[in-house]
Amino acid sequence: MNFSNLQTQTDQRIMRITINRPQSLNALNAKTIEELSRAIDQAASDDEVRVVVITGAGDKAFVAGADITEIQTLDETTTAEFVERGHATMLKIQNLGKPVIAAINGYALGGGCELALACTLRVGSDNALMGLPEISLGIIPGFGGTQRLARIVGTGRGLEMMLGGKPINAKKALDWGLLNQVVEQEYLLEAAYKLAAHLSKSAPIAMQSIMDAVNRGADLPLEDGLEIEKDQFVKICGTQDMREGTTAFLEKRKANFKGH
Ligand code: COA
Repeated sequence: MNFSNLQTQTDQRIMRITINRPQSLNALNAKTIEELSRAIDQAASDDEVRVVVITGAGDKAFVAGADITEIQTLDETTTAEFVERGHATMLKIQNLGKPVIAAINGYALGGGCELALACTLRVGSDNALMGLPEISLGIIPGFGGTQRLARIVGTGRGLEMMLGGKPINAKKALDWGLLNQVVEQEYLLEAAYKLAAHLSKSAPIAMQSIMDAVNRGADLPLEDGLEIEKDQFVKICGTQDMREGTTAFLEKRKANFKGH
């Protein structure tokens, strides 16, 4: 597939998407968002892909935000479409049904932080800076930040980040649960791939069920969330992977999950 602002490669069940606009610190313009959306479609339809890693080109930025040159031209007639496009792409990432790991190699600001929030897991380099600084531009987060950040770090910390506009460093992001792991920058991809390789051998349908139950259950009353869990468990018990996993345990061997 041809992309101008992304590089993609798939190897050993792991698809890597690199956002490649280093001259703008990988800022997300409309074309990049459209390409990201197509790349996620590709990850969804390719059975070979079990895990996706998203990172930014260069050693300075994951993504330094939505493209401010485009934001500057928005008005009351064009903004809804801009926001809807961003929302749709972030939702597509969140609901891919395969784990998506953000490998955050520097600035993850504004739309870049929101992209990371839509991913399943986040690994950061020690120079990562994460934040929603939109307030300093006189705007608000528009790619899901007002909703996803507080769900991950809590309302108090989320409001502090969005109202104050100051990015937090990797150590604090780890402490607040915004990052799952922090490593020295030179080992970032290695760490993201180690995690991806581990997940690539897990049972794909079970992973999908866990992500679905967590995502859909997060904002439901407990009893409704438990219904989702039950439905997913029933579905899983009809899979060959469930037979393989339990049989492999009893036969004291490693399971070979095929995704059906
Ligand atoms: N949109 C468009 N262009 C951006 C951008 C963005 N979100 N972030 C950085 N760039 C561009 C800069 O304009 C600059 O372009 P130029 O070389 O043509 O002048 C280039 O990327 C390098 O950025 P620069 O600001 O010179 O790097 P820096 O190291 O001095 O600062 C940042 C890095 C991340 C602190 C700074 O670029 C910044 O604050 N970016 C905007 C962050 C933001 O508000 N994001 C939310 C947007 S909704």
